[in-house]
Amino acid sequence: MAAIAENLAIMGGKKAVPDGTVKKWPPIDDTDVKSVLDSLRGANHAAGPNCKAFGDEFGAWNGNKHAIFTNSGTAALHMSLVACGVGAGDHVLVTAYSWSSSATCIIHHNAIPVFVDIDFDTMAIDPAKIEAAITPRTKAIIVVHLHGLSADMDAILEIARRHNLKVIEDACQAHAALYDGKKVGTLGDCAAFSFNQNKCLCTGEGGMFVTDVEEYRQKAAMLWSFGETRTPDQSRDYHAYALGWMYRGNDMTAAFGRSQLAKLDGYFAIQRENAAVLNRRLRGLPGLILPTEPEKCTHNWYNYACRIDMKKIGWTGEPTRMRDAVMKALQAEGVPASIWQRYILPRMTVFQAKNAYGNGSPWAENDALDVDYNPARFPVAQLHSETHFGMTMPLRAPNRTDVAELIADGIRKVFENLEKIDPDQVLKT
Ligand SMILES: Cc1ncc(COP(=O)(O)O)c(C=O)c1O
Repeated sequence: MAAIAENLAIMGGKKAVPDGTVKKWPPIDDTDVKSVLDSLRGANHAAGPNCKAFGDEFGAWNGNKHAIFTNSGTAALHMSLVACGVGAGDHVLVTAYSWSSSATCIIHHNAIPVFVDIDFDTMAIDPAKIEAAITPRTKAIIVVHLHGLSADMDAILEIARRHNLKVIEDACQAHAALYDGKKVGTLGDCAAFSFNQNKCLCTGEGGMFVTDVEEYRQKAAMLWSFGETRTPDQSRDYHAYALGWMYRGNDMTAAFGRSQLAKLDGYFAIQRENAAVLNRRLRGLPGLILPTEPEKCTHNWYNYACRIDMKKIGWTGEPTRMRDAVMKALQAEGVPASIWQRYILPRMTVFQAKNAYGNGSPWAENDALDVDYNPARFPVAQLHSETHFGMTMPLRAPNRTDVAELIADGIRKVFENLEKIDPDQVLKT
């Protein structure tokens, strides 16, 4: 291969994005500081008044009747399964490509994850492949709105209706994303949001369970707080009526969440402007597959996830080698690109081993050892995992379009010089 061009930063050329350009997330102002300090000076640092208020405000913002503030998105996912009546041994369909807990939450309730391949464009569960995975034991579908783009909900809800399945939305990455004009998290039976450091609404750690159904709220609330039926702000009888966990958030975190929520729509306006710059500047770059925004969907641009078209660039080696080399070249330019998930879910050891609780549980006792997690059954997810890279921070406030322009410069520079990138050289160091 030809020597790497000197103008690429990875070979010592000038960076396209100078150090310090991309500002950290989330922006913190005096209202955040006051909100958290007021909570700190208050009397209840556990499930205090901010927790209830945050749930109410988030529910109103998203359009849900009920919202329960949790200590993580994973907790809210587990609560969703219980709310929907999923029991031990039931099968739950889930996308083959997501964060691990989109699927481990199923095991948390001794149910059995059954993976479905993704649609290449939306990167979410492929509705065309759902029906083949349904069995008489299937109870629910977990739909992940990956990277802030809604899955194809018309098709999914129609299949769910026909087969009497519950639909749980994993909206952990998808605050404010729309499907057919409706916010995600209002489309299925219940939904989970995450507020961890990287999410579009950041409280450090935290999450929200949402639903419109009172019965689901009640079931979820029991799991949330020790199996009790009374919330921490009521007079509790400290009786475990059902199996429960400790999934409650704390008051200071909720106070932070409330002050960030008040600014959330403004943040999304900025994310959309920044994404528009990238879409405009990067369209047509040979070998670069940009994220799509299908009809009916409004992206929240949580993660600007791209794929490299290996065929188009003439790369016939291991896709991950070229992708990793390109990513290193991007990072050298100052573009904070990263790989989100290298492994598709069925490849992860927790599923391959089928032994989450020891003694083969929950597969062995539920006659589910033959559920097939062979990664070869999920070729689209595999292709995506091998060829993608993404970005979150440069699209987030306080970064504005001037930053997005520089990021676009960096990506263009690398993709216009792709033939000069030799993975054997780049990955040596
Ligand atoms: C798609 C998805 N589902 C679930 C989670 C879990 O959220 P949390 O980390 O708040 O438990 C995350 C984030 O980590 C996620 O990105």
